Formats: sequence, C-alpha cells, structure tokens
Amino acid sequence: MMALQEQAVLAGGIQIQNLRKVYGQGDTAVEALKRVNMQVSPGEVVGLVGPSGSGKSTLLKCLGAIIEPTSGRMLLGDELIYEDAWKVKDLRSLRRDRIGFVFQAPYLIPFLNVTDNVALLPMLAGVPNALARARANELLAALDVAHRAQAQPSQLSGGEQQRVSIARALANRPPVILADEPTAPLDSERALSVMRILNRMAQQAQTAIIVVTHDEKIIPTFKRIYHIRDGETHEEAGLGRSVD
Ligand SMILES: Nc1ncnc2c1ncn2[C@@H]1O[C@H](COP(=O)(O)OP(=O)(O)OP(=O)(O)O)[C@@H](O)[C@H]1O
Ligand SMILES: [Mg+2]
Repeated sequence: MMALQEQAVLAGGIQIQNLRKVYGQGDTAVEALKRVNMQVSPGEVVGLVGPSGSGKSTLLKCLGAIIEPTSGRMLLGDELIYEDAWKVKDLRSLRRDRIGFVFQAPYLIPFLNVTDNVALLPMLAGVPNALARARANELLAALDVAHRAQAQPSQLSGGEQQRVSIARALANRPPVILADEPTAPLDSERALSVMRILNRMAQQAQTAIIVVTHDEKIIPTFKRIYHIRDGETHEEAGLGRSVD
C-alpha cells in the first residue's frame, strides 16, 4: 500500500526547491523570486497568494516553462525538469502535453470559434477531431459557456473568455494545471463553480493544481495556501471549505 501511494505521488505532482528568478542584469536587475519552495501532490489544489509584484506570475511562468528560472530545482512527478538549467529537451511538448495554463489574460485564438479554441490542443495531440470537439463542448457546458460555442472570442464578455480559457487548459487532461487569477472576472457563483471543476479534476484525474488568486470568494476553498512575500514562499493551512 505504501509503495502504491509513493508511486502515485511520483506519477504527478510538483516540487519546487530554492527557485530563484532574476529579470535583467546589472543596475536594472529585478530579483522576482529569491527562494521559493513548494510542493503540490497529485490530486491537490493549492492557493498561491501575495501582493501585486510579489512574483506569483513569474513563479507560474517558470513552472510552465514559459520563462527560464535563474537557479534552483523543479520536478514534475519524478522527473527533474530544471536544475540550474532545463533538463528537458523538448520544452514545447512539455508545455503542450503536461501543463494546462490559464493565463492572467485569456489569450484565445481570434480566428477560431470557441469550440475549436478548446479542441485545438487535443487535436494537435492526435485526438480525432469529432471526439476533441465533443469533449470541448462537454467542458464548455461544465463551465456554463456552451451557448457561446460557435462564437468568435471577440464576441464574448471578459468572464466568458476566461471560462473558455479554463476549458482550454483542462482539455488535454494535463497532470499539472497552473491558473493565474482564473476567477478574477467572474461573479461569486461562477468563481465557485470554477473551483468545483478544478477540485473535481484534481480528484478524478489526480491533477496537481496551483491557483494564483486574490479572490476572497475562493480563498476559503483551499486546504493549503502558499503566501509569497519578498520572493519567498510561506505555507499556511487553509479552511478547505467544500465547494460541492
Ligand atoms: N519581463 C519582466 N522584466 C523585468 N521585470 C519583470 C518582468 N516581469 C515581471 N517583472 C517584475 O518582477 C516582479 C514580479 O512580477 P510578477 O508579474 O511575477 O508579479 P505578480 O505577483 O504576478 O503581480 P500581480 O499580482 O500584479 O499580477 C515585479 O517586480 C515585476 O515588475
Ligand atoms: Mg501576476
């Protein structure tokens, strides 16, 4: 049993050790992350909270292989992906297959309709088009935007665009989801329903999820929260209020 559980922990999950990120050089250098330590188990949804400019987006972008850290270690499951340099050759497939990223601004592809924005990555990963679209529409329904499936992104409200971008991050069923302020433009009911979907995803698919947020509506839902201050993280127990 012990071995099985260890196996499960190794199968997904996130570990970040002594991560540092300095932007720029010399006089204009900004040390956005000084010493970040974080651990997220498969099936867990943790909150990441901190003041504006404290490094939250920087941390998610490092973990999501969008920018390169300066030093430290990062593991996805049992695989060392970064140790003072990238240890993975193909960062593009790491981003595409293993990480679902919800950006602070929803970068939808303007010339694809809503369904195809969500179905695109699974299609690129080899899922037959009809199946990818059916799954996309299921996710859109769960996020309460199915009625906009045929619309172009520019025809959606900010909150609708954000829900589509959440559906897109979930579409490939990645083992890791990184969400930067996913509920900021949403009303309380929709914000909680996004948290319900993320928690369900974590439980059912053993996804490890980090949610950056200032949102007072959703903070009580986390069992564990990391606070980031002056480039360092501090862990705290959350309320873990059920959203079901
Ligand atoms: N590309 C960049 N070049 C230089 N400095 C940057 C860059 N991106 C971010 N920074 C700086 O790094 C620090 C952390 O920024 P980051 O965007 O990670 O903060 P944040 O916690 O996400 O803030 P917010 O809550 O406002 O989104 C800030 O001081 C910011 O000005
Ligand atoms: Mg940010």
